[in-house]
Amino acid sequence: MCGIIGYIGPKNSVPFLIEGLKKLEYRGYDSAGLAVIEKGKVRRVRAVGKVAELERAAGQINPKGSCGLGHTRWATHGKPSEENSHPHTDCSGEIVVVHNGIIENFLKLKEHLQKLGHTFRSETDTETIAHLIEENLKHISAKTEEERFLSAVSRANAKLHGAFAYAVMWSKTPKQIIAVKHQSPLVVGLGKEANFLASDVPAFLKYTNRVLFLEDKQTVVLRSDGIELFDEKNHSIKPKITKISWDQKTAEKGGYAHFMLKEIYDQPQALEDTLRTVRNDFFRILKSKSEDLRKIKNIHLVACGTAYHAALIGKYYLENFAGVMVSVDLASEFKYRTVAPSKNTLCIAISQSGETADTLGALKKAKELGFKRWGICNVVGASLTRLCDHVFYTHCGPEISVASTKAFTSQLISLYALAILLGQACGHIHQSQFKKYYKELMTLPKALAETLKVENEIKSLSRKAYLANRFIFLGRNVNFPIALEGALKLKEISYASAEGFAAGEIKHGPISIIDKGTPVIVLMPADSLFDKMLSACQECRARGAFVVAITTPEGKEAAASVTDKQIIIPQMSAFLQPMLNIIPLQFFAYWVAKRLGRDIDQPRNLAKSVTVE
Ligand code: G6P
Repeated sequence: MCGIIGYIGPKNSVPFLIEGLKKLEYRGYDSAGLAVIEKGKVRRVRAVGKVAELERAAGQINPKGSCGLGHTRWATHGKPSEENSHPHTDCSGEIVVVHNGIIENFLKLKEHLQKLGHTFRSETDTETIAHLIEENLKHISAKTEEERFLSAVSRANAKLHGAFAYAVMWSKTPKQIIAVKHQSPLVVGLGKEANFLASDVPAFLKYTNRVLFLEDKQTVVLRSDGIELFDEKNHSIKPKITKISWDQKTAEKGGYAHFMLKEIYDQPQALEDTLRTVRNDFFRILKSKSEDLRKIKNIHLVACGTAYHAALIGKYYLENFAGVMVSVDLASEFKYRTVAPSKNTLCIAISQSGETADTLGALKKAKELGFKRWGICNVVGASLTRLCDHVFYTHCGPEISVASTKAFTSQLISLYALAILLGQACGHIHQSQFKKYYKELMTLPKALAETLKVENEIKSLSRKAYLANRFIFLGRNVNFPIALEGALKLKEISYASAEGFAAGEIKHGPISIIDKGTPVIVLMPADSLFDKMLSACQECRARGAFVVAITTPEGKEAAASVTDKQIIIPQMSAFLQPMLNIIPLQFFAYWVAKRLGRDIDQPRNLAKSVTVE
């Protein structure tokens, strides 16, 4: 996820670009850049770090131009560095591109363009767009340079695969910006005397609330006095202008009251993005390692907080699909316990930020023990990535809220994908089984989108339960860690006392803390353990608990006989079900905290990334 901004109008674009980028920083903040057309020439400034760094750099060289593009980056291809920062240019430096998303076939295009003599200066997929348009221009003649440029862009679009939104300027056509949307967001703002484009409305909301949300495969030409919209076949179409009624603060969160809620709703898209990475990168990395993979005998998973819960589920995946022995440790424990030396051992560290000190410490220990090291991480170039032999990026976009939601489900997908890929490489599962599991995995974003519909039901459930002083979550097998994660979410943001247990374990102690009215939330999809979960519900109900079942359509009737409330979500196979089961629990934590008036995105005493021991 990155942020794009464009301005074309009578004034110097630079202040508008900087202001817009600051509003888009939530989309990425590892580097930023801008370019303007000044007296027929492109002037570009880029800086590593936050937009404030770019502002400082721009202040020094003072570019001025009434047509400009800006970008704040969240690295996907290539580490965060000035060379990899946007805007990118073609060989001549006359064509400038900013881009959000992933060009999946960029390596192929890059190779082809290099053969034709194009010189690339960055590791990004974005730069390919600039060279592709430059190449197209060589073969197009038209009445005006504006028309020539537009058809060069449209020819480029026909070759680009992936999910992307980009904007491009050419120094020879300083009175227009062209922008394209395909599966990544892009919105145009229509001002009185200037027009804007951005990845999100807050970037220009101060200047206009008249917006055009571009549809996939549309191209827009922006001029200071108007816009022109084209469909995939280059037919001019009438823009549908919307008036936005959000205030600035609401707009920054995409219309949601909190980043946490926005990030819960981001999940279908976030999972699509992770799955795209699975398709492109995971296969490639693992293919090149298949010899080594077959030798792996033991796996240690290490992580903290929410990522640790993902690791606990990862153990079920890896042992089931790959048939390898797996141990799971809290990173802070792994560091200080005696870990038996073993050969052919792999340590996988899981971390959203890649900066958690305990997780980095565990990786250093794994290195000392001679273990191979892989990472599952969301931030390209984070410290964790330098301690690993291979990194699998979740690419679910920046997570702003302290309580982790979309990073968790993306980590689960990554672990599931690794487990089936490893299983196939080691011969533990057949090709046909692999295909079946893989196919089902690809359907997950749709099922997750369907699951999000439970919010209203959870909201009213939270009204009944939010004043309780203790909450219990129960699950078994892959849903036991989901119970732990449900309790952690609630603790983190509501400050209530919440605990997760393996349902089979409550009779060995925890049942003593259940009394009249204690909310007990039970994860009980209709699977092979459903009957056992029914018994757990009965045990709790007999002690007066208020029992809520999170179940699937087939389990509804039986659950209704032993619980006070049933929340029905879609059914998937047992190992994918946790990714759906967590959704009602994320909503539950959110709504309890909201009713209690807590600071949801920045709960007391917590930090998004804990970089000290
Ligand atoms: C902090 C956060 C948790 C997070 C944990 C691990 O404690 O408050 O929400 O799960 O760190 O973070 P990581 O970035 O390593 O996944």
